[in-house]
Amino acid sequence: MGRYSLLLKGGTVVTADETKVTDIGVYKGMVVALGDLDPADAKEVIDVTGKYVMPGAIDVHTHLDMPSGNYTTSDNFFTGTKAAAFGGTTTIIDFAIQEHGKSLKEAVDVWTRKANNRAVIDYGFHIIIKDIHDGIIEEMRELAEMGFPSFKLFMTYDSLRVSDDVILKVFEVAKEVGAIVLLHAENHEIIKYLVEKHVQEGKVEPRYHALSKPDYTEVEAVVRASNLARAVDAPVYLVHVSSPESIKYINELRNTGTTIFAETCPQYLLLDDSMYDEQKHLGAKYIMSPPLRSKERLHEMWAAISNGSFQVLATDHCPFPLKKKIEQAKKDFSQVPNGMPGIQLRLMLAYTYGVLSGRLTMQDLVRICSTNPARIFGLYPNKGTIKISSDADLIVFDPTIKGKINMELIRENIDYTPYEGMGFQGLPTYVFSRGKTIIDNLKFVGKKGTGVLIKRKKFSLGE
Ligand code: URP
Ligand code: ZN
Ligand code: ZN
Ligand code: ZN
Repeated sequence: MGRYSLLLKGGTVVTADETKVTDIGVYKGMVVALGDLDPADAKEVIDVTGKYVMPGAIDVHTHLDMPSGNYTTSDNFFTGTKAAAFGGTTTIIDFAIQEHGKSLKEAVDVWTRKANNRAVIDYGFHIIIKDIHDGIIEEMRELAEMGFPSFKLFMTYDSLRVSDDVILKVFEVAKEVGAIVLLHAENHEIIKYLVEKHVQEGKVEPRYHALSKPDYTEVEAVVRASNLARAVDAPVYLVHVSSPESIKYINELRNTGTTIFAETCPQYLLLDDSMYDEQKHLGAKYIMSPPLRSKERLHEMWAAISNGSFQVLATDHCPFPLKKKIEQAKKDFSQVPNGMPGIQLRLMLAYTYGVLSGRLTMQDLVRICSTNPARIFGLYPNKGTIKISSDADLIVFDPTIKGKINMELIRENIDYTPYEGMGFQGLPTYVFSRGKTIIDNLKFVGKKGTGVLIKRKKFSLGE
């Protein structure tokens, strides 16, 4: 009695490396035993026979409590992390945004205040750099030391974008200080030209959002970003890659020896650009960047995720109320705040449409949703796997529960889901964050503010 605070008995434990039936003993927030364990040694035993037990999913691309023009994303660090937990996500890495002319540390302070006392799961921040100033090298070095070894740059959006010389500089410093750079890669000038042209011609419906950001605007920027990284010999992480054309070039550039990681999101695997034609401005639901692509090519995106060309599946959760999106869409598509909700549904969608359709194995699912994100962003092996001494961030996934996605299921603080009406199978019934139960038989039992800001390790290709 008391050797384990929790014992998960009889589950099918899945990591990126193997799948096997084994028990898991937890003590002081960590996995302390694996094997055939004696229930008499445990304070609490949960029989998880017939269920999958996986390391908690890690979402390295979220935008909680994020100001954007006149709006702020509708999930804060409490509602957003709670919704994440319902979906089996036990760690997020959100983005702290530098203000023009201000320090990067101030951004971290601002975002720490947003998350502290609210988050119900563990979290970290990538830091979005808007401009570089004297002292940026020291600042990036200190932040990498402090546990923030990742910086993000945008190649588009008027208020965020940086020029190629800044990208080169940030790659150089990041490489020196042991950090990795994330890039939002889209060609700003072409997009600006096409947006203005469409609006001037009165082509203002949501579908012109997609027509203003054709896939070649992503391809051009992906190739440029990768070659900038290649020049510096720095690692690069391309966020929300949406088109099969881009992944073709990414694979080619990877063959030159450049370390390129590519992320995609469920929306680019499951939704398509015909949805912009939903009537009554409802196409505004799907306005985000990059936009949805053509249905004919979704199978190529799945092929790329199946064959390992994409290392990470993240959500880019960036919710703005549909009412507001529609209100703006009535003016023109370019006025609509960019972004969609999705923090809750990633695992279920990947299981239903990836695993059950034979495009992913369970181990692939764990690899892209948990292990690879942990490795790339300095969380491994505390997170991203189930080993002795790893954090007891665990999920029990019941593959038999079936249903339809509707607003009754959704815990995100938002008035729509882009996946409405789609079938799903599989749900996390129990979720543990460092050994504490936060989802108990589908009910949230976590506490506001128990999530911890994780000091991440520097980037390295080894672990
Ligand atoms: O449209 C999107 N994706 N909004 C969120 C910000 C970003 O570009 O990732
Ligand atoms: Zn500035
Ligand atoms: Zn982006
Ligand atoms: Zn994003």
